[in-house]
Formats: sequence, C-alpha cells, structure tokens
Amino acid sequence: MHHSSAFALTTPLYYVNDLPHIGSAYTTIAADAMARFQRLQGRPTLFITGTDEHGQKIERTAEKLDRSPLDHCDQVVQGFQSLWTLLNIQYDRFSRTTDPRHEAIVREFYQRVEAKGDIYLGQQQGWYCVACEEFKEERELLPEKRCPIHSNQAVEWRDERNYFFRLSGYQERLEKFYADHPDFIQPPSRRNEVLSFVSRGLQDFSISRLNVRWGFPVPSDPSQTLYVWFDALLGYVTALLEPDAKPTLENALKSWWPIQLHLIGKDILRFHAVYWPAMLMSADLPLPSRIFSHGFLTKDGQKMGKSLGNTLDPVELTGKYGADAVRYYFLKEIEFGRDGDFNETRFVQVLNADLANDLGNLLNRTLSMAKKYCQLQVPTLDVAAIAPEHPLKTLGDPLSDRVRLAYENLAFSEVCHIILELVQTGNRYLDQSAPWTRYKEGNTAAVAEILYTVLESVRLAAYWLSPLVPALSTNIYKQLGYSVDFGNSLKLQATVVLESHDRWGTLKSNQALVEPTPIFRALELPNTEH
Ligand code: MSP
Repeated sequence: MHHSSAFALTTPLYYVNDLPHIGSAYTTIAADAMARFQRLQGRPTLFITGTDEHGQKIERTAEKLDRSPLDHCDQVVQGFQSLWTLLNIQYDRFSRTTDPRHEAIVREFYQRVEAKGDIYLGQQQGWYCVACEEFKEERELLPEKRCPIHSNQAVEWRDERNYFFRLSGYQERLEKFYADHPDFIQPPSRRNEVLSFVSRGLQDFSISRLNVRWGFPVPSDPSQTLYVWFDALLGYVTALLEPDAKPTLENALKSWWPIQLHLIGKDILRFHAVYWPAMLMSADLPLPSRIFSHGFLTKDGQKMGKSLGNTLDPVELTGKYGADAVRYYFLKEIEFGRDGDFNETRFVQVLNADLANDLGNLLNRTLSMAKKYCQLQVPTLDVAAIAPEHPLKTLGDPLSDRVRLAYENLAFSEVCHIILELVQTGNRYLDQSAPWTRYKEGNTAAVAEILYTVLESVRLAAYWLSPLVPALSTNIYKQLGYSVDFGNSLKLQATVVLESHDRWGTLKSNQALVEPTPIFRALELPNTEH
C-alpha cells in the first residue's frame, strides 16, 4: 500500500438552526469520497464531521420553537446523523460543540492565547448578521441594510464592550506562511481572494458577546460569552481526542494533528484561511496542511433559499434516487471548487448515460457472453501475454496513477472522466472486436482475450469509483465473483483483500462469475410540468 502517514480531514461543523440542506450534504459527500479514497490506499484516516451548536442564531431558533437550546440541538443532530447514514457517509468522529470535553479544550486554548497577550478589551461597533454570525462592512450591505448572503435578513447594529483577538499582529506571519505554502489555500482563485483580503490590512476581531447566553463563558470574565466562531473552529481539535482521553490540548494533538484537509464552502473561507491560522499561531501550534473551498450550488440556475421556495431537500432526493445517484451527480457534474447547478432532468440524464448505459450495459453484455461462451467464468488466458498495444491495456495500465493524482487534487469530476474513458473504450472495443463472430469462427483464444480485457476494465473502473459510489462498486465486484464490501470502508481498510487491485490485470482466470443483473436501473425523466 502507498501511505503510512496519518490523514485527518474535516467538513465544517454545521449550524443546527435547521435540518441539513443540500449545501451541507455536498461538502459531506465530497469529504466522504476523499476519506474513502485515503482508506482504499491503506492510509490511516480520520474523517471528522459534526455540528456547531452555540451562538445567537441557535439561541434564537430554539426560543422561537419554544425548546431549550440543548433539546433543540439534540433533535437537529439526529436529523444530520440520519441523513449521513442515508447517504452512506462513513465518518470516524462526530464533533458536537456542546460536548463537555470541548469546553475544557476551548478554555485551555483561550488561556494560551491570553498568556501570549493577544486578547484585550475593546469597543465593538458594527453591523452584525446573526445568520452568518459575522460582522459586515457597511459597504457590503444591500439596500435596507440587508446581508449580502442572507438577503431576507436585516443586519443589526452592535455597540458593546467585548474582548478582541489581536489579528492585526499576525499580518506578516500569515503573509509569509501563504508565500511559503502555495498549496495551503485551494483552488487558486480562493487563495488569491485571501491574499488580496489580507493585503488590505487585517483588523482585530471581537471574540466575545455581551447579550448572548448560549455558549461558553469567557474564562477570564464569565459576564461575557465566547463568540461562536472562536469556539467552533476549536471543535476540530476536540474531535481528535480519543473517546476516553482526558480533555487536554496535549492529548487532543497527540496523534492526528496537524489536520491534512479542511473542506469548506467559499462563504466561510476567511474564518478558515485567516482567523484560524492566526489563532493557531498565537497558541504556538502547527497549522493545517490544506484548506479547500468548494463553490455554491444553485437549482435550475437560481440561488436556493427558503424565501425563494426552491430548496432541494437532500433527504427527499436521496429517498427518491438513492445514495449512489446523488453522490455521483454532484461529484461528477460539478467541477469541485466551482459553482454548480442542480437540475433534475440533467441529473437523470447523467446517471442514465454514465451508470445505466456506459458502465451497466458493458458489464451486463460481457457477463452474458461469458455465460454463453465461457461457462460463466473469467476466461482462461495468460494475462501477461496480452499485447501492450491492446487498447484496454494501454489505457488500463497507467490509469491508477492518473486517478490517484486526480483524487489527491479533489478533482472528482476528472476522476469520473478518466474512468469513463476506459469504460467507453471498452464499449467500442467490444463492438468492433465482435466476440460473437469470433466464437462462431471457433476462435476461442480471441473470445477469451476480448471478454477478459473488458471484464478487467470494468473491475478497475468499479475499484476506482468505489469512493464515489460504494454500493454500485460492491455490486459490480459481486458479479465479478468477489466478496468485497466497499460500503464498509472502515473494515475494508483493515483487510488485505484488495492488495494489487489498483493494477490492471488483477482479475483471475477461471474465477466464477455471477448471473448478470442490472447494476443501475435507468431512471425516469421527471415530470417537467412544474
Ligand atoms: N457553522 C459554520 C461552520 C463552522 S466550522 C468550524 C457554518 N455552518 S453552515 O451550516 O452554515 O454551513 C455549512 C456549509 O454549507 C458551508 O461550507 C457552506 O459553504 C455550505 N453551503 C451552504 N449553502 C450552500 C450552497 N447553496 N451550496 C454549497 N454549499 C453551501 O457555516
């Protein structure tokens, strides 16, 4: 296997003001695909997701619903966890910022930063968006003082004494860090956005609130509550604690720190790429290796929102089409890092074309022929004797290196394109080489080579698609005569069943195949009346 170093990755810790939306599902699907890819490589992996439960937004939501804040959080957390199960998300840690161990971590961290002299009392004035939990510059606001992200919400004026974090003191160190680590913020468009933001000059930001009760008290002054973002980012650290370890920074940072990858959406880039590194520098801790920011999803070309009445419910979508379909669509159809669109007709077309037709039919046809011509067994032949210029071998041999690189770059769409190229070449090759004619001619050696090379290409495709569509890949493997459960990626990691499966030519002659059944049933086009 290829790696031994630890790989910890995170999704954002989601706000629990509401049930998960398609945006949170999108980040989580991508993170799960990346975690599964790392585990498939045999790399020790820790996939962290969770919830961000404090602050004014949650406090107000619970109040409106007439629930205690914690009751409210508990209920919404269940909604998140059941969606993740439905979507086949296999996380290792679910970090809740209301976990009592988290308070100990936050306290210790705060004290370190305070001892550094980076916290002071000052006067905070400005326009605050509760939905963003962020102060806005006057010039960014829409008419009637509405938030540019939450255009149905008016910002609120704040003028209070708060504790501040001395961000301005980290300008030079941050700039040096970005220059020394050109891959720290990805994609490059986001890196440029951060560089330009930082070059305009960094201002200290307030890390406490006077009139919010739902959160941790400021350790040195319990009359104030810690700002939700200060506490939330540290949720990534708390998540690293072993289940029964004493909650100290030392214990938390022992085995998985620094985190290799923070996956986020572009709206929370500044917090992760500027505030968070500065906080860590202040506490004398190493910084994460990479922050990757994906784009925003629209529906039928329009911004999604409750007020617009065009939200896309991930539970409903997954219930209707299944986890593999939803995972595949978002990762294949949208170049990760760019904005992308959901359109149901397009959704059905993509899945039918790629999974039902290109991949599904190829396997089905070939298995049917293997049944007719080879007693439902992998044909007998000397794999090493297949000519290097055989079209499928030519593509198959270097495929794993290309796919691995694309995965490392989070280029999921490219992963799919590389794999589909092999599958489509397999279809053309099968048509052109006409094994049915070779069979009639009595050329069993040609039949064996044709069927073998196609089946082996489908196998390699299934192997590398498994981080994206684990159930589908498991099904393909089953029909090829293996018992491998790609669904259970945690267990997969612990076994050696898949040794060398990243090599074209792994399928064994005479292995018993299974009666073909469709791996992906063609979906019906949606009723487009509305
Ligand atoms: N609680 C903070 C994160 C704290 S991390 C220490 C938060 N939570 S959130 O629930 O509001 O957002 C979660 C993620 O959903 C963000 O990465 C955000 O970019 C993403 N999305 C929200 N709407 C989205 C779309 N329409 N499309 C794609 N992703 C979007 O922010």
